Amino acid sequence: MVKSEILISVRDLNLYYGKKRSLKSISLDFYENEITALIGPSGSGKSTLLRSINRMNDLVANVTITGSIFYDGKDIYGPKMDTVELRKEIGMVFQQPNPFPFSIYENVVYGLRLKGVRDKQLLNELVEKSLKDVAVWDDVKDKLHDSALGLSGGQQQRVCIARVLAIGSEVILLDEPTSALDPISAGQIEKLLLELKDRYTMVIVTHNMQQASRISDRTAFFLEGELIEYNTTKEIFIAPNKKETEDYIAGKFG
Ligand SMILES: Nc1ncnc2c1ncn2[C@@H]1O[C@H](COP(=O)(O)OP(=O)(O)O)[C@@H](O)[C@H]1O
Ligand SMILES: [Mg+2]
Repeated sequence: MVKSEILISVRDLNLYYGKKRSLKSISLDFYENEITALIGPSGSGKSTLLRSINRMNDLVANVTITGSIFYDGKDIYGPKMDTVELRKEIGMVFQQPNPFPFSIYENVVYGLRLKGVRDKQLLNELVEKSLKDVAVWDDVKDKLHDSALGLSGGQQQRVCIARVLAIGSEVILLDEPTSALDPISAGQIEKLLLELKDRYTMVIVTHNMQQASRISDRTAFFLEGELIEYNTTKEIFIAPNKKETEDYIAGKFG
């Protein structure tokens, strides 16, 4: 087994929405070129933790955060962090595919245009490469200038992932990326994430225990804002240490 390096370290992270403490002293590491699954019932803080990693919670009013998250050794909550840059390096994919109401091509180059990339040939190359990476190129290469909204849900989600790849993200945060998709599209996205693991580090929130066990290397189980247990996915699913983890995985609550 390859020994992975730590890419992101969360240290004693607390997050309050107003007075409500929704993350309670969370510490854990995310490893390079691995998929880490965040599991737990609704409201346990999974999305909140995910959004903390690229500082999307900064956009929510009345949020207070204490503790640290180190990405490549840099404190992302430190005074020198450029959040616009951070969100390019750590991209996000949501539950509901959210293509912009533009062409497929413009969706993929959106971030690149914001970055000021004008070289048409470079844009064309990056569109082709990113759409090939998400295995949708053959489906769309003859209609790149048609609206992305005309694609199926699964294709839209791939285009959203391609958008993250095109901008050069190193980390992809995925918040229940397949739960709005039919089982076949969901399976295709899972396969895609496994293929992307060679080049990207991913953190995925999922309600689907089979999905977590199929695709993730490590799994973190959350309950009411606390990290109850974190281990290799194998250990979590075969021999969990905590009763709560065992009960959740067995479907006794959630
Ligand atoms: N924008 C917000 N404002 C206030 N409370 C929020 C907000 N987002 C989430 N919460 C609260 O934080 C807790 C954790 O929510 P969330 O991270 O969405 O959980 P999960 O993704 O595990 O379902 C819940 O109690 C939720 O109500
Ligand atoms: Mg959530």
